[in-house]
Amino acid sequence: MAKVALITGSAVRLGREIAFHLAKNGWDIALHYRTSTKDVADFEAELKTGFPEQRFFAFQADLGVIDQTQKLIKQVIEHFDQLDLLVNCASIFEPSAFKETTADSLIRHSQVNLVSPFILMRDFANSAVNGLIINIADTRITTNKSDFLSYSLSKKSLWELTKMAALELAPHFRVNAIAPGAILAPAGKDQHYLEKVADLTPMKTPSGVISILKSIDYIIGNEDLTGQLIFCDGGAQLL
Ligand SMILES: NC(=O)c1ccc[n+]([C@@H]2O[C@H](COP(=O)([O-])OP(=O)(O)OC[C@H]3O[C@@H](n4cnc5c(N)ncnc54)[C@H](OP(=O)(O)O)[C@@H]3O)[C@@H](O)[C@H]2O)c1
Repeated sequence: MAKVALITGSAVRLGREIAFHLAKNGWDIALHYRTSTKDVADFEAELKTGFPEQRFFAFQADLGVIDQTQKLIKQVIEHFDQLDLLVNCASIFEPSAFKETTADSLIRHSQVNLVSPFILMRDFANSAVNGLIINIADTRITTNKSDFLSYSLSKKSLWELTKMAALELAPHFRVNAIAPGAILAPAGKDQHYLEKVADLTPMKTPSGVISILKSIDYIIGNEDLTGQLIFCDGGAQLL
């Protein structure tokens, strides 16, 4: 029986790339989405056509709503009878300069980027005998710039939570994180934006999604690895 991965936010962008990569490597995939209904339906159909021996199913949940988040792991395990890998990838990313940051912004970022990964990790650990968790953080966790205060704080906390979970859940679960730099342009920006941002990093070229996918393979394959963070940021964390 193939192993099962749940990737949050896997209808679009990085989550979709991770889901496709894992599917290519033989995993059954629990796709998660919130609003990208058409994207997820098209992607699910594409996966079923491309990998007819494997299982794919989409689950809708707003990870900003605790009740919906708390149902997700149960739904996935009821459907697939198992869960082996959780990738916490869904996120909100909104600018919030220190002096303009509202409590609502802090709470919303925390809910989606920190509380929901916690709930999913906790429920996974309570429902399976063993497993692997990969949290997608951000290279911004190394800086104290406050132009994206709510986002950066939620991702800094996610990395701290990753270490706490790694210690608590060993030896049956491994918990690691990946910290991307700018790998996909945000809405309204193009490849030129990524090149400009990359030019400010030591490696001078955008890391690209492939760096994340290789890191996922490395984490999966290295059974000694827990509580670790892999930067995929062209060295931006050094600045
Ligand atoms: N893109 C980059 O260059 C970059 C750089 C550093 C770190 N990262 C991290 O990498 C991960 C993926 O980034 P990305 O740029 O590909 O995606 P993104 O645009 O940051 O996130 C969009 C995804 O999050 C989901 N999402 C947002 N709010 C949600 C909610 N309330 N409930 C459930 N799902 C929700 C969306 O689902 P629906 O579309 O279905 O609503 C969508 O799949 C994130 O954790 C991000 O912080 C990305």
